[in-house]
Amino acid sequence: MKHGRLFVIAAPSGAGKTSLVKALRASEPRLRLSVSHTTRKRRPTEEDGREYHFVSAPQFERLAAGGEFLEHARVFDNFYGTARGFVEEQLRHEAQELDYHLSTGTESFAESLTYFPTPGEFRTGPEAYLCHIEKAKRAVQIPIIASLNGATLGGWTKYARAMEDAGADAIECNIYFVAANMIETGFEVEQRYIDIVRAVKASVRIPIAVKVGPFFSNMASMAKWLVDAGADGLVLFNRFYQPDIDLNELEIRPNVLLSTPQDLRLPLTWIGILYGRVRANLAATSGVHSAEDAIKLLMAGADVTMLCSALLRNGPTYLRMVEEDLRAWMGEHEYESVQQMRGSMSQLRCADPSGFERAQYMRAVKDAAYIQRSLSAPVTRVENWGPE
Ligand SMILES: Cc1cc2nc3c(=O)[nH]c(=O)nc-3n(C[C@H](O)[C@H](O)[C@H](O)COP(=O)(O)O)c2cc1C
Repeated sequence: MKHGRLFVIAAPSGAGKTSLVKALRASEPRLRLSVSHTTRKRRPTEEDGREYHFVSAPQFERLAAGGEFLEHARVFDNFYGTARGFVEEQLRHEAQELDYHLSTGTESFAESLTYFPTPGEFRTGPEAYLCHIEKAKRAVQIPIIASLNGATLGGWTKYARAMEDAGADAIECNIYFVAANMIETGFEVEQRYIDIVRAVKASVRIPIAVKVGPFFSNMASMAKWLVDAGADGLVLFNRFYQPDIDLNELEIRPNVLLSTPQDLRLPLTWIGILYGRVRANLAATSGVHSAEDAIKLLMAGADVTMLCSALLRNGPTYLRMVEEDLRAWMGEHEYESVQQMRGSMSQLRCADPSGFERAQYMRAVKDAAYIQRSLSAPVTRVENWGPE
């Protein structure tokens, strides 16, 4: 296994460490900077997570007691620490990325460890993630939904309880593993999902949502099974990491591609089919890039639509634009509430329920006008959608 290298830049205060690090990072983009935790007060020009992770003294003590620091020290009245999880993750990151996604059964915890485009900036250990929940809870008035990805049943329930204790209003269980074991049957794989949902549900009082991929032989029965096991919400669908091959280096290249608006067809199909048929809230994720995308999913039956790639691409303020566009569209079309449009185009309520099933696709392909429209549509260069 290939390991990364750790460089420690040490010098007295004022010697120019920051300038040196800046210059090094500019010349070598693969370098990752470990952002320390500190209990010192944040200065107005500083940003949490950029200069430091700013934590309270009790939070720092909890992290230290949990062995979360590689080293920590008191300087005058403040504490400073280097997150162990971050550094260790970086050192083994390259070699492990593929292993992680192709193997199961390894211990993992808060799902913030799963996958990110610049892992160096985001990866944190479970204790830091719990601090993050506490901070988020204090910072905003809206409900905080914690996201959890475990590997062992014990891990799932332990961290679910810890998230509830940290103040989370709900938990999204991101059940993310690649079932590549040839002797495990589809039924056994599905049973693993159910066991996780039952165990997490039994360990917390707050609602739990389950985020899954679409790869089940019968998504409808799987959805019902998950809800019967205790899921209060279904988040459809996770996008699975798919490795690429670098033909120059002959290496597997881990990368995360951002979604395109076309990706919303899959959640649209299944939310449309499941609306009114399962006793759970339905959240749509994958391919929501505009207010129109959100409207389509609401009409299919989503309670919630989620944006990730669009926000990574356009920044968080883009959310306001989407909301304004949504309000404007509703005004123009005389909808008074989101509830009014919810499910109006679901399979149960739309004029042509067969539109959600494959037969319709066959019909559509035979329709020359449809093909004509597709051929004349502008082509989106797929590589433009990637983060790199
Ligand atoms: C860079 C990146 C990091 C992500 N990290 C997570 C994660 O930690 N947990 C999770 O459940 N989903 C994660 N996702 C998946 C998103 O939450 C979302 O379900 C997916 O990207 C589809 O939505 P989108 O089309 O709006 O991007 C990540 C996606 C991206 C692009």
